[in-house]
Amino acid sequence: MRLFLDTANIDEVRDVVRMGVLSGVTTNPTLMAKERGSTYRERVVEICEAVQGPVSAECIARDLKELLEEARDVASWHPHVVVKVPIDETGLEATSLLSREGITINMTLVFSANQALLAALAGATYVSPFVGRIDDAGQDGMEVVREAVEIFDKYHLPAQVLAASLRHPRHVIAAARAGAPIATMPYAVLKAMVKHPLTDVGIERFAKDAEAYLKEPAREQAKS
Ligand code: E4P
Repeated sequence: MRLFLDTANIDEVRDVVRMGVLSGVTTNPTLMAKERGSTYRERVVEICEAVQGPVSAECIARDLKELLEEARDVASWHPHVVVKVPIDETGLEATSLLSREGITINMTLVFSANQALLAALAGATYVSPFVGRIDDAGQDGMEVVREAVEIFDKYHLPAQVLAASLRHPRHVIAAARAGAPIATMPYAVLKAMVKHPLTDVGIERFAKDAEAYLKEPAREQAKS
């Protein structure tokens, strides 16, 4: 299983890269809009260089011709760029054409297993069910992940389920147990995965105990 960060913030990316657990990044226009100081292209390239793995950058054009142009342009920015295309009829057509050109597509805004199946058949490499937003609408987001994983496995479809819109650490565990090969999450969720109150208590207690025995003269002598 691979973990991606859902962010356009370069400091967050660099911080998690340091831990050695990050395989990629997903961005979207909402996340990009929060950032300042660099162009869209500059930020995407910066993130690609930092993570050295797939970085999804979303297209906004809705007309087929414009979408194809935008996608080809975005794909040319860096070898790690994955072009994010929202699922609708135009998006599927674009995905089918672009994937045949060798452009890697993340089909986004997927809210049902039917949409996931269509995205995979059109040639998307990554298919992103939005778990949290499905839950918000009163349905079971993780069930869409489970169904998509089952269908892709059963029919040997090469697309990978990228569990997205995850809101808390339990979502990550649920996505892993559902068989999603990738989960993308906000920085705060990844940081929360690291923490456990008993780990903090344990570290503190061991540090205190170590302090006591390291001060013993016998041990100091034994060391020399
Ligand atoms: C994934 O690629 C999306 O950018 C993201 O997970 C959306 O999450 P949200 O529903 O929290 O905005």
